[in-house]
Amino acid sequence: MTTDQDDSRQVVVRLDDVHKEYGEAKALDGMSLTVHAGDAVAVMGPSGCGKSTLLNMVAGLDRPASGTVQVHGQDLGKLNETGLALFRRRHIGMIFQFFNLIDDLPALDNVALAAQLTGTPARQARRRALELLDELGVADRRDVYPAALSGGERQRVAVARALMNRPALLLADEPTGALDSRSGEQVMDLLIDLNQIGQTLLIVTHDQHLATRCADRLVEMADGHVVRESSLEPAP
Ligand SMILES: Nc1ncnc2c1ncn2[C@@H]1O[C@H](COP(=O)(O)OP(=O)(O)OP(=O)(O)O)[C@@H](O)[C@H]1O
Ligand SMILES: [Mg+2]
Repeated sequence: MTTDQDDSRQVVVRLDDVHKEYGEAKALDGMSLTVHAGDAVAVMGPSGCGKSTLLNMVAGLDRPASGTVQVHGQDLGKLNETGLALFRRRHIGMIFQFFNLIDDLPALDNVALAAQLTGTPARQARRRALELLDELGVADRRDVYPAALSGGERQRVAVARALMNRPALLLADEPTGALDSRSGEQVMDLLIDLNQIGQTLLIVTHDQHLATRCADRLVEMADGHVVRESSLEPAP
């Protein structure tokens, strides 16, 4: 949506020389990345190159061994665990390959819970949840439990949940990886629409088609760091 030359735009994500090991495995090894407001960035790379670890760092679910992670102007290293949890709930939306919905709650409550956790009163949260389910075309599934939803419906409910608190940043880890191609296309359409109204996206995928359709910038990783960055032509 925006050009690389225009650096007056607000920085939403900045990783600087981040390192993270799990035992012998170097999950991130000198990872640096900047994402501006309104960007749609796709991250690709071989299995094990550190893509999910990157998203976990940005979401404050994991901490670097060294280097800094700044999101929405906040140095995540300066927050304690409670601060990180609050920051994540307020400013980050996440969607996953396998949805991560709560099995014991119907669709509407799965979505509303995200706002209730930040202190929004239940009625208000449910009202916004229903609006989002409606916008995403699954309002009629509001009382259905995740087990009885199709994969595409589950992912739309998960997107609604991720958007509840109007996050500065939407993170997606293989958001279409568990979907049939038709549901996958619908989720891609959704991501494109969200980006067009200004939502910043950071999407991890193995799917070149998803990257080309949904992102304006491709970041290729190998061995825990960026090996190539390129801009992508907007989808016709
Ligand atoms: N919690 C963990 N405990 C131990 N090792 C881990 C953990 N998380 C990641 N790793 C290791 O760190 C490296 C990077 O993992 P990561 O999950 O980030 O890769 P990925 O690029 O997301 O791979 P995939 O495409 O298969 O999802 C791998 O070697 C992995 O085995
Ligand atoms: Mg992964």
